[in-house]
Amino acid sequence: MNRIQIAPSILSADLLKLEEQVKLIAAQGADMIHVDVMDGHFVPNLTFGPNMVAALKRITNLPLDVHLMIENPDHCIEKYVKAGASILTVHQEVCTHLHRTIQAIHSLGVKAGVSLNPATSLTTVENVMEDIDLILIMTVNPGFGGQKFIPQGLNKIAKAKKMIEKTGKDIFLEVDGGVNPDTVEAIVKSGADLLVAGSSIFGQEDIVKAFHELRKKAEKAASAL
Ligand code: DX5
Ligand code: ZN
Repeated sequence: MNRIQIAPSILSADLLKLEEQVKLIAAQGADMIHVDVMDGHFVPNLTFGPNMVAALKRITNLPLDVHLMIENPDHCIEKYVKAGASILTVHQEVCTHLHRTIQAIHSLGVKAGVSLNPATSLTTVENVMEDIDLILIMTVNPGFGGQKFIPQGLNKIAKAKKMIEKTGKDIFLEVDGGVNPDTVEAIVKSGADLLVAGSSIFGQEDIVKAFHELRKKAEKAASAL
């Protein structure tokens, strides 16, 4: 079992206190910072661009886990790499030539991830499993923080875990959406090893306490495996 990693999502941070909050969560032991890029087309919300990634890069050494919820990601992967992304994750639903997109990300020297919406089957990524560094299972419909975890996701996480094991490679199994102290145990027990958490960390009054509560529950669940 890999160590459980936590990637707090700045989508739920206070943007006017972003530097302070990112530094605070980094000091608590966050493993990565999750950056949700939304284009207002693929998802009904608009968020950050490469300039946000570049700004974060200046204030933290943590890997920047960039989740591209955008159409035509091929057009801008280079911009996000130059800005400082460590992992670039694209959505299967918008990549007609997914294998080519993964290769393009790798050629720029960063890790490549593929994300699946709740309604998208794992079979759509079966043929690229060997090529990716991360699979991101969405457990809400992407676009907003603070949504309710979709429980059918658990079965999908378990299936993804089996697919990863079959490759014999070290591939992150990331889960995004509705990860909180009530859902984390089942998520970890299903096989996730990288947890995105927005509202359950940055959305809380005491983000330090919230981070440690989530970490503790995640580690307890992992130790029982
Ligand atoms: C949703 C984003 C998530 C979001 C998760 O579309 O991809 O990363 O920040 O938010 P929570 O953790 O609040 O469900
Ligand atoms: Zn995300």
